[in-house]
Amino acid sequence: MQQHIDSALLQRLASTYGTPLYVYNADHMTAQYERLSQAFTQKKPRFFYASKALTNPHVLRHMHSLGAGIDCSSINEVLMALYAGIPAQDILYTSNGIHIEEIVSAANAGVHINIDSISNLRKFGELYGDSYPVGVRLRPNIMAGGNLKISTGHDKSKFGIPIDQIDQVLAVMAHTGLRIKGLHIHTGSEIKDVSVFIQGVQLLFTLSEKFPHLEFVDLGGGFKVPYMADEQGTDIENLAKSLEDAFALFEKNTGRDVAIWFEPGKYLVSGAGYFVTQVNLIKQTPTVAFVSVNSGFNHLIRPMFYDSYHYIKNISNPQGELKPYAVVGNICETDTFAWDRELNEVREGDLLVFYNAGAYGFEMSSNFNSRYRPPEIMVRNGEPLMIRRREDFTDLTRAIMPIDNT
Ligand code: LLP
Repeated sequence: MQQHIDSALLQRLASTYGTPLYVYNADHMTAQYERLSQAFTQKKPRFFYASKALTNPHVLRHMHSLGAGIDCSSINEVLMALYAGIPAQDILYTSNGIHIEEIVSAANAGVHINIDSISNLRKFGELYGDSYPVGVRLRPNIMAGGNLKISTGHDKSKFGIPIDQIDQVLAVMAHTGLRIKGLHIHTGSEIKDVSVFIQGVQLLFTLSEKFPHLEFVDLGGGFKVPYMADEQGTDIENLAKSLEDAFALFEKNTGRDVAIWFEPGKYLVSGAGYFVTQVNLIKQTPTVAFVSVNSGFNHLIRPMFYDSYHYIKNISNPQGELKPYAVVGNICETDTFAWDRELNEVREGDLLVFYNAGAYGFEMSSNFNSRYRPPEIMVRNGEPLMIRRREDFTDLTRAIMPIDNT
């Protein structure tokens, strides 16, 4: 199984499909999934791939073929999973801040549902009583995650029902007969510290006796992957062992068998993704050498939005002398991918590749400046398959009403 795509293949794909171009290595996704699932030897969790990281239905099918369910954060992601042929019982919908009508649509589709507000829980209970058990997303008031923008479990976060308001959940259950089958937390993205998950699960254990119909605890996603060369990701084997120990003790003390669910996104797809761009021009100014690539935050927004680091390599001149550059995009905004970055000498026309671009890369892209979104290529067993074509002008105008109407 080829876990990495080499520069020669990226170069070939760039000449076949043009640039900019997203390339995904399905074998890397498989290896990540296997490492995760094999780390658990005593108690096998259920993994629902967080499709918001990368929603292409070909990727969803690949994940499902590995044994993963699909986690969705909007009704359209649910529709996308159904479109990909995933059965409803393998789809999880974790709602956030949405109208009850959307939750009803998810219920009509028959998928698992996590509800994240008292207001919607009450409305759902009044509509369904005990006929449609759901999970509740709780806010554990734990600060965790790579940066504040991607921290979701702290005591000022909009996500989930604050743990301090658990009595209101119990009141809805008593009033409507609603059955709670799952307790869910997701404290953030890029959580390296295993103890955050343990702390979360212990909190859920303390609540479990209030929930007689509890079937699963859902610990969300958020495993850290290394973006920089000297970074460590979450120690998955340690995580599995610590959780298995915690669950074994809980089961011994209570006699209850509660399943573990996870919703990993980044961990499964980040390292599988390569974003291949081409250098439009070099602008040597008195202070800075700008390298302008044929992309911008319209295609990869993470560096600008979260100050995220993506390793960049000049695959056209790997032996070139190392020099510092500012790598910028070509859109009409300040769209700096990297400042003061050492790259092998860059020439106009060279291919620059951004690594770890599989998660929240294409998925957060847009048509800003009326530019097209790139194609996506999935490579499996060395075989490339185009899973999304490059957009063209018809894509930009598809939803526009005829202009002679105005
Ligand atoms: N479950 C829930 C309820 C979530 O909100 C998320 C991510 C996940 C699972 C998956 O988390 P992951 O395993 O991918 O960390 N766009 C940001 C990350 C935002 C994550 C939003 N929620 C980024 O590019 O860093």
